[in-house]
Amino acid sequence: MKITVVGAGNVGATCAEYLAQKELAEEVILVDIKEGLSEGKALDIWQTASVNRYNTKVIGAGNDYSKTKDSEIVVITAGLPRKPGMSRDDLISTNAVIVKSVTENVVKYSPDAILLVVSNPLDVMTYAAYLTSKKDTSKVFGMAGILDTARFSAFLATELNVSPLDIQTQILGGHGDTMVPLPRYTTVAGIPVTQLIAKDKLNAIIERTKVGGGEIVKLLGTSAWYAPGAAAVQMVEAIVRDQKRIFPCCAYLTGQYGLHDIYLGVPVKLGKNGIEQIIELEMNNEEKELLNNSANAVKTVMKVLDDMKII
Ligand code: NAI
Ligand code: 2OP
Repeated sequence: MKITVVGAGNVGATCAEYLAQKELAEEVILVDIKEGLSEGKALDIWQTASVNRYNTKVIGAGNDYSKTKDSEIVVITAGLPRKPGMSRDDLISTNAVIVKSVTENVVKYSPDAILLVVSNPLDVMTYAAYLTSKKDTSKVFGMAGILDTARFSAFLATELNVSPLDIQTQILGGHGDTMVPLPRYTTVAGIPVTQLIAKDKLNAIIERTKVGGGEIVKLLGTSAWYAPGAAAVQMVEAIVRDQKRIFPCCAYLTGQYGLHDIYLGVPVKLGKNGIEQIIELEMNNEEKELLNNSANAVKTVMKVLDDMKII
């Protein structure tokens, strides 16, 4: 198994490190346009192998995609992160050009690879990778829901003083402030969260989750990488080990949830074939309205991409 990670910045390097530690491939190839960056980070990560006890080789390829040939999975993290005061959508004009050229290079050398997009604005960058690659939508999808639900779980675990391992939750919609956390589908060891926490406290946690990425941008001056890297690797693990795990992921909808021709966060089953099933949750009217609002926000950014006329 060969896995490529494009973008050796904060998220990409973290992904490569976690992939290696979990031994999900024989080789992890790190690519970056910035001279020396992928080679330097790959070397540094590989030098942890004897300490952290793994065999996965981590190799820096610079910007030479021939070294990524025949990768089975490619994680795309190339692109600018946001700075304080920016929304994820502000990144579109720069990142769309980057994601398009990265996808072309990746597909040239690994036509059968599954593409996992991380670059923001996530839903529309996943759409850009799909349009560029012309691959089946089961093989092109994005990471956001695992990160957003992990943030929700972390806040709930702190508030309730329980293990985050016991929390199950769902967040649907776009990866932005319109995301739709679903308290009706949130449990702690099977107990509905609404029985464990007062409504105003739960609402405050939901609102904090929706702007959870922005909270970190304000603190760090750039966006998060540990939880995003771990979330992307959890998706890769489900594919490599054919785990059939059910995660909220950014998937292409063809009528599910009443939505068509849009990439949006929904629960899916992930296995060796990529997205093996899109799961439709029963939604009440309020939840449906929130999901439609979120889809409309994503469509506005899709239109910006269409108007760029680059793909
Ligand atoms: P970063 O700035 O640390 O790394 C990005 C890397 O991409 C840089 O090293 C840069 O040289 C490289 N790059 C730029 N153009 C390239 C090209 N054409 N080919 C190859 N490499 C290229 O940024 P960070 O923090 O790693 O974030 C990366 C992206 O992931 C951002 O767009 C960010 O918004 C997004 N992100 C998405 C998350 C999600 O939940 N989907 C979570 C966290 C970040
Ligand atoms: C996050 O949510 C920036 O999308 C990234 O941290």
